[in-house]
Amino acid sequence: MDWWSNSSIYQVYPRSFQDTNGDGEGDLVGVISRLSYLKSLGIDAIWLSPFYLSPNNDGGYDVQDPRTVDPRFGSMEDAVNLIKAAHRSDLRIIVDLVPNHFSTEHQWFKAALKSLPGSLERSRFHFYDGKGEGGAIPPNNWCSIFGGPAWSRVIEADGKPGQWYLHLFDSTQADLNWENNEVKEDFEKTLRFWLDKGVDGFRIDVAQGLVKEEIFKDHRDPEGLTRALRLDVSDMDRFERESLLADVPFFDNEGVHEIYRSWRKILDSYSGQRMSVAEAWVHPSSRAMRYVRSDELHQIFNFDFLIAPWDAEFLVSAINKTLSEVGQVGASPTWVLSNHDSPRLVSRLGGGELGRQRAKAMALLTHGLPGGIYIYQGEELGLEDGQLEDKDRQDPVFFRTKGVDKGRDGARIPIPWSSQLSNYGFTTTKPWLPIPSDWQDHCVEAQVDGDSHLALYRRSLHMRKLLSRQLPTSNEITWIDTPKEVLAFSRGDDFLLYANTGGESLELKLKSDSQIILASSAQAQLTSGTLTLPAESTVWLGKITK
Ligand code: NOJ
Repeated sequence: MDWWSNSSIYQVYPRSFQDTNGDGEGDLVGVISRLSYLKSLGIDAIWLSPFYLSPNNDGGYDVQDPRTVDPRFGSMEDAVNLIKAAHRSDLRIIVDLVPNHFSTEHQWFKAALKSLPGSLERSRFHFYDGKGEGGAIPPNNWCSIFGGPAWSRVIEADGKPGQWYLHLFDSTQADLNWENNEVKEDFEKTLRFWLDKGVDGFRIDVAQGLVKEEIFKDHRDPEGLTRALRLDVSDMDRFERESLLADVPFFDNEGVHEIYRSWRKILDSYSGQRMSVAEAWVHPSSRAMRYVRSDELHQIFNFDFLIAPWDAEFLVSAINKTLSEVGQVGASPTWVLSNHDSPRLVSRLGGGELGRQRAKAMALLTHGLPGGIYIYQGEELGLEDGQLEDKDRQDPVFFRTKGVDKGRDGARIPIPWSSQLSNYGFTTTKPWLPIPSDWQDHCVEAQVDGDSHLALYRRSLHMRKLLSRQLPTSNEITWIDTPKEVLAFSRGDDFLLYANTGGESLELKLKSDSQIILASSAQAQLTSGTLTLPAESTVWLGKITK
């Protein structure tokens, strides 16, 4: 079986993981210094968010040079040392690839600014003349996903306002033109560059976005569309939202697949099972499978759980849909509960102790499913989004929406390692985002007891590994009949999972003869074939051969 099919992959957001050079931001040496912690979790691989040269307007997703390490994170030697040290600990390394855009600090963009409209330099991006008198109106009415217009106008050599360039995200992230062969060649070079350095795979940013179509056509509701894409939809009609998402002119165009087929050939030409995982929100979700056909990418994040309520009916249908969709192309399912772009799981599930209890149950449910799981740093600590003052925020989403959308900083607060050390051991100086003063109990060091969030993650990730050796290799699960607030399934003869999303403890008579192997609540019990399934909890039953 491919190594990623059942893997637990841990996302490190390097800027917030561990600082070692005293600048208030995490770095690669910091990740090396925490490898034993990562290993102790029972994960198989680490995905590193970007650490490439960048002005850092969008947390490094504004890449100035994809083949240089940003000094704020260390050196190329540090990157190579990290890859080697991880491999020595039997941990694989996945790095981010950001092919939709380059920073406006990239040398190509600077060259484009110095060149004439229609030049080769400009053709690497989407530069066009504006409409209306003097070209003062952008080429179309698209909005940036981060808020505001998707076009910015440049000043030409004659000192006058000139052409417009497209940026689906921040104005410092210029969209690349994938019809330009140099763009294609440059990314192939980047793939090979990191593959030669020994990375085991790539996470592809905005994988659905590379190819633009109908670029001169206005959209019927550009603001509604970007709100729908940012999930800022509380007052939007569900059907309207679906209809907007089903037809996004800049996403999910056929041309992206040819790009992934060419990358797959490169990945396959290296030994050691190199993989790729797509970050691609597409609608309807059945279209996602097109990215993981056998000659394209290997995995695609399944975001159903990232926005899922803690509700049995919703979860059952999300699981069925995912398993059936990936099954059609023979790819492995993935499950994502949180990442650096979304609220932390505990906050999303209500916050406080109840949120934490539900988050534990949701994690145990996810870890019991067949397929790969992606864990965002701090999820294992049960962290909540930190409260920030507006003056501390750094996310371009906050600035571009003029504060209407607070942005993603709350989920990016640095990891609290120890309450004995200043700044929780993250840094010796002021951290780039303030760490809440009441996180003592959530520190890594404080979570030694068996009931802690961290202890549960460690146990479930280790057991998951043992189970993956003994459960059927197929992704099949068999649903068990239960009351409606409960979901339960078996995998093979040796594993049963029960999750109670309701607020009442339940007693359930079990048919099979098993024992509890792990539970998110200490109150779970199995006595004479009757399972006490506490409110908001998940239980694993069966047997594990060590
Ligand atoms: C998705 C990344 O996860 C996010 O952090 C970034 O802002 C956008 N892509 C743009 O690169």
